[in-house]
Amino acid sequence: MLSTLANTHTERMAPIMYRAILNECSYSYNGLHTHRYASTATTTKTETKNESLNKPETKFLFPDAIKPEELPKARNTRLVSMRDFKHMAEGKFLTKPMFKHPVWTSEEMEGIYYTHRKCKTLDDYITFYFMRVLRNTFDFCTGYLEPKDKQDQIRIAKSKRRMTREKWLTRFIVLESIAGIPGSVAGFLRHLQSIRLMRRDKAFIETLLDEAYNERMHLLTFMKLGKPGRFARLMLWFGQGIFANLFFLTYIIRPKICHRFVGYLEEEAVLTYTRCLQDMRMGLNPQLYHTGIPQIAKDYWHLTNKDTFYDMILYIRADEAKHREVNHTFANLKLRQDRNPFAKDVPNDPRPQPLSDTLKTHRGTGWDRKDLIL
Ligand SMILES: [Fe+2]
Ligand SMILES: [Fe+2]
Repeated sequence: MLSTLANTHTERMAPIMYRAILNECSYSYNGLHTHRYASTATTTKTETKNESLNKPETKFLFPDAIKPEELPKARNTRLVSMRDFKHMAEGKFLTKPMFKHPVWTSEEMEGIYYTHRKCKTLDDYITFYFMRVLRNTFDFCTGYLEPKDKQDQIRIAKSKRRMTREKWLTRFIVLESIAGIPGSVAGFLRHLQSIRLMRRDKAFIETLLDEAYNERMHLLTFMKLGKPGRFARLMLWFGQGIFANLFFLTYIIRPKICHRFVGYLEEEAVLTYTRCLQDMRMGLNPQLYHTGIPQIAKDYWHLTNKDTFYDMILYIRADEAKHREVNHTFANLKLRQDRNPFAKDVPNDPRPQPLSDTLKTHRGTGWDRKDLIL
C-alpha cells in the first residue's frame, strides 16, 4: 500500500495517508464476514466499530489513492457496458417523482451499517438459507468476490478479479431489477384484498408501492450509466418471470415469510453498497468514484452538481436499510389486524416509533411487535 501511495502522491502526503489507511485497517472488518451472522446481542460491539468506520471525515480521504492505469488488466464483464455521457440528459416530458424522497443528512446516512436479524423460527431459517443460495449464485454470475477483511479487500482491488465499474453496474442493475418486484406485488395483492373484502388496508399499500417505486428509481438511475447486453436482458426476463410468479403465489399463502425474505435480501443489499462505499472511500476504485450522476438521480435524491457518485450511493444504501427495517417489521406483525406502524406518527406519546421518512429512529433488524403502538 505504501508503494502505491508513494507512486501516486507527493512524499509529504504519503506518511499521513499511510497512517490513515492503517487506522482504517486496524478495525475488525465490521462483521462483514467472520461475524456477519452473529446475533443482535453480540453485534452491539461490532456496530460501535461500524459507526466509527462510517465517520464522514474519512469520506474523501483518498479518492485517487490508486490510479486506474496502475492496476492490472481486470477480467471485466460483458453483461453491461458503460453508456456515453450524453445519455445522462433527460427528455423534456420528465414528470415529478410520484413518491417524493425525504431529505436525509450525510451524517444519518453514514451511520447506516450492515446488521443481521438472527433467525428465530423455521420460516426464518428457510427464507434466510434460500436467500443465501440466491446470493451465492448471484455472486458467481457477476464475478463478485466477498472480502474477508480490509486487507483482503485491498488485495482484491489490486488484482485481476477486482470489481470494475462495469462489474459494479452489472451487479446493481440485476439486483435492482429484482428488488422492484416484492413491493409492487405485495401492494397489488393488498389492494385486491382491500377491494375484495371492502375494508380499509391500514396504510400498507402506500409504503409497499413507495418501496417498489424507490427500487425502480435505483434501476433507472443505473440504467442511465450502464447498458445491459442481450444476455443480461434475457437473464432479467427469466429472472423476473420466475421470481415475480413465485413471490405472488407465496404472498397469497404466507405474506409474513415473504416480508422476512425481503428483509434478509435487503440486509445483503446494504452489505453490497457498504462494500462499494468502502472501496471508494479507501481509494480502491477511483473510476467508480468519478462516475457522474444522472439528472434523474439529482432530481429524486435532491443532489446538487457538487455531489459525487459516493453521495448518491449513500442515499441508495440508506434506502435499502429502510426497506430492511420495514420488511423485518412487517414480518413481525399480525398482518390481518395490525396497522402499518411506518405510516403515521403517534402524537403525545414519548415512546420512539418507526416512520418511513426518517432515519432518526432506524432499527436495522426491524421493530418487535411489543415495542409498537398498533
Ligand atoms: Fe435498491
Ligand atoms: Fe431495497
